[in-house]
Amino acid sequence: MVWFNSKRIFCSPMKCGIILTVPCCVFWLFIQIQWLKGNEGFSCCHWNTGKNLTILLWHWPFEIPYSLGGDVCWDLYRIPHCKLVDRRSLFPSADVVVFHNRELIQGSQKLPTEFPRPRGQRWAWMSLEPPHHNGNLQQFANIFNMTISYRRDADITIPYGELLPLESEGSLVEDNSVNKSSLVCWVVSNYQSHHKRSRVFKELSAVVPVQVYGNWKQKPLSSKDLLPTISRCYFYLAFENSEAKDYITEKLWKNAYQGGAVPVVLGPPMSHYKDVAPPNSFIHIDEFKSVKEMGQYLQQVKEDKKRYAEYFKWKQHWMVRLHTDWRERLCKICSQDNHLSQNKVYSDIDAWDKAPI
Ligand SMILES: *[C@@H]1O[C@H](CO)[C@@H](O)[C@H](O)[C@H]1NC(C)=O
Ligand SMILES: *[C@@H]1O[C@H](CO)[C@@H](O)[C@H](O)[C@H]1NC(C)=O
Ligand SMILES: *[C@@H]1O[C@H](CO)[C@@H](O)[C@H](O)[C@H]1NC(C)=O
Repeated sequence: MVWFNSKRIFCSPMKCGIILTVPCCVFWLFIQIQWLKGNEGFSCCHWNTGKNLTILLWHWPFEIPYSLGGDVCWDLYRIPHCKLVDRRSLFPSADVVVFHNRELIQGSQKLPTEFPRPRGQRWAWMSLEPPHHNGNLQQFANIFNMTISYRRDADITIPYGELLPLESEGSLVEDNSVNKSSLVCWVVSNYQSHHKRSRVFKELSAVVPVQVYGNWKQKPLSSKDLLPTISRCYFYLAFENSEAKDYITEKLWKNAYQGGAVPVVLGPPMSHYKDVAPPNSFIHIDEFKSVKEMGQYLQQVKEDKKRYAEYFKWKQHWMVRLHTDWRERLCKICSQDNHLSQNKVYSDIDAWDKAPI
C-alpha cells in the first residue's frame, strides 16, 4: 500500500505489522484465558461464546417429561447457547446437572454419586416447594453448588409468576364490580384445620359470607371454570399453605390477579409482597388488628366503588406473567450464568432451605 511506502510514515510495513499484531495476540490470549476460567467475569461482552452451556436434567419433576427437541431455549425463550438435555449418557459433558428435590427425598431417584464428578461440573438443587414440604436435606450437605427456587436469594430464582411493565399505559376498566356476586371467595382442596389459613377463614366467615370452592367442600372447579368463577368475587383469599420466605404462588398471580378479584393474602410478611407486587394491588392480613376488622373493611370497600377501583389501578402499568414450564426455568440457568459465582458449595443446604423468614 502507498501509505506504508511513504517515508513520512512513522513505521515500516514490517514494524507496523508487529505493532498491530502484538496487541491483537494479547487480546486474543485474554479472551482465551477468560474462556478457560469458565466465562467468569466476562459478562461485560455478550459477543463472547459460541460455547454452549449443557444443562442436564437428571429426572423430570413429578415424572412428567417435556419435549427437548430442537434448540429449546432459543426456540421458546430466545436464550442462546443453552443446550438442555435429559439423556443421562451426557453426564460427562454436562456443565450443570439439575436435581429436582421431590424425587430425591421420596427415594424414587438417586444422586449419581457412584460416578466421578467431572471437573468444573456444577450440581443444582431445584424445588418450588416451601421448606415444610422439602423434607430433611441434611443428607445433601456439601453436594450442591447451586439452588433453583422461587426464593429471591436462590442462585436461580424461578417465581411462580411476576408482573412485567406494560410498554404503553393500559386502559382503565370503568367498572370492576360488574358481574360480581360474592363478597369473598376461597378455593381450597387441601384443608387442614391446623393451617393458619384455616383459622383465619373460620374467623372471617363468622363476620362476612365466604364462598368456598374446591374439593374440601365437594365443589371442585375445573381449570376452565376457575378464573370465570373467581371473576364473580370481589375478593379472593390467596392464602398460602405455608408461611415461608418469598413463597408466593399462582394463588396470587393467576387466581386473583388474572381472575380479576382483589387478593387478600396470607403467606410471607407484607414486605415480601411489596417487593414483588405494586402497592394497592392486594390486601395483607397483617394490615389489620383482627380478622373481624378485616372482614368489616372488605365489606366497606365493596360498597364504595371508587375505593374498590383503586385496587385495579396497577393494571394500567403492569401485566401478569405466569411461569409454569420447567424448560423455561432450566433455560434461565444459561441466561443468569454470567452473574453466578462459579465456585460455590452449599455446605448445609438444609439450613439454607429452612432459613427463617
Ligand atoms: C451450540 O448449539 C447450537 C444449537 O444446537 C449449534 O448449532 C452450535 O454448533 C453449538 N455450538 C458449539 C460451539 O458447540
Ligand atoms: C358479564 O356477564 C355477561 C353474561 O355472562 C357477559 O356477557 C359479560 O361479558 C360480562 N361482563 C364483564 C365485564 O365481564
Ligand atoms: C461443586 O461442589 C462439589 C462438592 O462439594 C465441589 O467438590 C466442587 O468443587 C464444586 N464445583 C464447583 C464448580 O463449584
